[in-house]
Amino acid sequence: METFNVCVVGAGYVGLVTGTCLAELGHHVVCVDSDPKKLKVLRAKRIPIYEPGLDKLFQRNVHAGRLSFAGTVEEGMGRPGRRAQVVFIAVGTPPRADGSADLSAVEAVAEAVAKSMRDYTVLVDKSTVPVETGEWVSKTVARFNRKGLPYDVVSNPEFLAEGTAVNDFLKPDRVVLGVTSPRAEAVMRKIYAGIKAPILVTDVKSAELIKHASNSFLATKISYINAVAAVCEKVGADVTLVARGMGLDHRIGNQFLRPGLGFGGFCFPKDLEAFYWLSRQKGYDFHLLKAVKDINEFSKSWVLRKVEENLWNLEGKTVALLGLAFKPNTDDMRFAPAVDIVRMLRNRQVSLRAFDPVSQAIAQRMPELKGVRFCPDPYDCVKGADAAAVVTEWPQFRDLDLKKVKRLMRVPLILDGRNLYDPAAVRAAGFTYCSVGRP
Ligand code: UDX
Repeated sequence: METFNVCVVGAGYVGLVTGTCLAELGHHVVCVDSDPKKLKVLRAKRIPIYEPGLDKLFQRNVHAGRLSFAGTVEEGMGRPGRRAQVVFIAVGTPPRADGSADLSAVEAVAEAVAKSMRDYTVLVDKSTVPVETGEWVSKTVARFNRKGLPYDVVSNPEFLAEGTAVNDFLKPDRVVLGVTSPRAEAVMRKIYAGIKAPILVTDVKSAELIKHASNSFLATKISYINAVAAVCEKVGADVTLVARGMGLDHRIGNQFLRPGLGFGGFCFPKDLEAFYWLSRQKGYDFHLLKAVKDINEFSKSWVLRKVEENLWNLEGKTVALLGLAFKPNTDDMRFAPAVDIVRMLRNRQVSLRAFDPVSQAIAQRMPELKGVRFCPDPYDCVKGADAAAVVTEWPQFRDLDLKKVKRLMRVPLILDGRNLYDPAAVRAAGFTYCSVGRP
């Protein structure tokens, strides 16, 4: 198998997983990050993020000499004897206040690559970017490519979900390559030669749209089932059964039909917003995406609504939040529904206690969560509480000793925002129990 010298710019979730997995496939990879703190951690052979399975691959490839780190694009691309042939752009594209994506970091990388390349180079967009970013990257490179060296820009969107990112990279459903030349296609096919998955080759704009359209569709599925759950609550039906009945139809599929407190994380909310913004900017009002966002906001208010329904006056009452991360198996608190839930409850003068097995250290430093009392374990968390709300479906919450929980709480009320428990079992243990869309 032909291997390449690869530079991955941006050592966040996407960049670090991409770089490590490309090294695992046999390529020589340099991960570049401008944050000195992050770089120090990486050079000390530690990973600065929580991602199951990543550390093992990281250690193996660092020790094999296939994975190293640099603070600048120039340094990363110019390793003696290993000048980068392919550069993956995996820097952040954070949302601006209006919902559009801030692409200044992508532009800066394109300029730096243009100034550092010495031969034919393939620039690969891995960051989630709006359609037409490839064209802008290409124009930027052309502007600073003083020697007129050949280059190509490829769109290769990532479909990594946090918590399963390594597996998603090495065993993907598909690899999408948006290319402008057969030469770039040949390089990219060789880069991914070690992966068994269908490869879809498209033009750059279509590849860019596949990413936004896929994530927005998955978000739509979640909002759809959350809306169905709201109807189920009104009529006394069970959304779990409705979702099962729907999912057995292969055309619908059973995934992403789990109701809950809304989707969060750094992808869905941001991508949905960016896709909506982009469509409007281009002259199409994508109403559906607006409805998906509205339903998601409504889903996040579930805990507040249930507290109101069950506890009458909220001032001075205490709610225990079990879980804070936007989903289990991650420490990620970005756009976590927990943050909105805290805001809503705090606005009503509710005292808050919280416990999360992994994201707590990060959560404790967040100004939005100021005033929340963080607890060392779930039992301490529910002590004296008038309600315990399951915000993240960490598997360990399933095994809680409910008798003990009941003893510790002031009022035995469980608001299961992730449908973690069997309603009959919790009620048999003496609790008032509410879950999402189930009687
Ligand atoms: C997602 C996509 O899955 C991935 O392909 C893309 O590259 C990045 O965005 P991620 O944000 O890591 O990945 O998490 P995911 O597991 O998809 O969950 C996103 C959110 O949706 C979470 O808040 C989760 O709790 C919620 N969700 C998911 C539901 O509420 N119900 C479901 O049925 C599935």
